Amino acid sequence: MSVEKNNDWPQLIASAQQGYHNAYAPYSKFQVGAAAMTEQGTIVSGCNVENASYGLTVCAERNCIAQAVIQGQQTFSSMVVYTEQEKLTPPCGACRQVIAEFFAPEAQVMAVNHLDNRKVWTVAELLPDAFTPKNLLEQ
Ligand code: THU
Repeated sequence: MSVEKNNDWPQLIASAQQGYHNAYAPYSKFQVGAAAMTEQGTIVSGCNVENASYGLTVCAERNCIAQAVIQGQQTFSSMVVYTEQEKLTPPCGACRQVIAEFFAPEAQVMAVNHLDNRKVWTVAELLPDAFTPKNLLEQ
């Protein structure tokens, strides 16, 4: 789907913004919100959740996907990552791997900020030649 043809962006951005406000980021102060559109047409959101044992921090994207899986949703068409940083926030490497598990390579991921600056990637652009469940099924 072309970026312009995805009519879900406004709703996804609003949900990612809501997620952002729930972020638990007392250490980095770097709040992140994420929202994903499920195959069934419902939106699930998430935020980053940090921990005093810093390495246990979980990013907004992974919490968003886990939240959807808990609700029984495992297929997604697009995702938005919202921050209030001038520099847009792309998904980190760990999140790219988890996104590649559940999103088709042509699914779109948007980074957007409070200034409405936007950047859209396909999942394949974020993680080319990803190792996915397909690799295991080919055994
Ligand atoms: N973070 C996310 O939630 N998503 C990203 O894609 C980048 C980083 C979080 C993790 C941590 O709580 C804070 O941002 C600073 O790294």
